[in-house]
Amino acid sequence: MKLAIVGTGRMGQAVETAAEGRGHQVVARVGRQENPDGQALTAERLGGAEVVVEFTTPDAVVANLVRLADLGIPVVTGTTGWLDHLPDVEALVQAGGGALLHAANFSVGVQILLRAAREMARALRGQAGFDATLVEWHHREKVDAPSGTALKLRDALVAENGEREWPVTSLRTGWIPGTHALEVDGRYESISLVHTVRDRGVFADGAVTAAEWLCGRKGVFTFEDILSGDEP
Ligand SMILES: NC(=O)c1ccc[n+]([C@@H]2O[C@H](COP(=O)([O-])OP(=O)(O)OC[C@H]3O[C@@H](n4cnc5c(N)ncnc54)[C@H](OP(=O)(O)O)[C@@H]3O)[C@@H](O)[C@H]2O)c1
Repeated sequence: MKLAIVGTGRMGQAVETAAEGRGHQVVARVGRQENPDGQALTAERLGGAEVVVEFTTPDAVVANLVRLADLGIPVVTGTTGWLDHLPDVEALVQAGGGALLHAANFSVGVQILLRAAREMARALRGQAGFDATLVEWHHREKVDAPSGTALKLRDALVAENGEREWPVTSLRTGWIPGTHALEVDGRYESISLVHTVRDRGVFADGAVTAAEWLCGRKGVFTFEDILSGDEP
């Protein structure tokens, strides 16, 4: 598979390593300087890529996705902090006949955490003696807070149990690639669901799996669609 990488920071570099490790060819790398408002994203510059993997910043991603939707090329994006614009982007992808897979978190473990958290939310219906809170830890350079994953977890919890608030606490410190916890506390007991990333290679590997899966498909997907095996 021929890939283009848009955004050459921590994740872009990790995706390149993961893709090459799986026998794919990176034919283009597009960085910030050459790409204000997505201007570098032309068919020519993308060098015949069959799929684009995009990891940039919340202020750059939407312009990139709009340009790529015009080209009709399949795109995997893991950039967080832009989902308010999803309906507009989705409409453009559908109109252009392309494909987009977006996910705030490309780790399989986080998808399992999501399922466990939904179950926990259901079990807490009517259990006013317990408090519940989400906590997330990330490295000091992460731009958005709460993390996209924490917001996704909160939405899932609210959908299962709207009886209570599900507050989120965000900590930004050091080099932590990403830790998410659902902490439930009763008077005499506590329950913790914790997911810890040891290496951001897990996200890169998941993004490459998503790119492999997306080739040949049309429409808008999330990482959950791959793991569930159900087409939306
Ligand atoms: N979905 C997941 O599993 C997952 C996992 C980890 C992170 N993330 C998210 O992925 C995003 C990137 O994370 P990261 O750790 O790789 O951040 P990063 O190291 O800061 O990298 C972001 C890169 O995007 C570049 N960039 C900014 N605007 C651009 C543009 N218009 N065109 C091309 N490149 C542009 C930046 O260039 P400069 O360095 O020149 O500014 C930087 O190299 C964040 O939103 C983060 O929250 C998602």
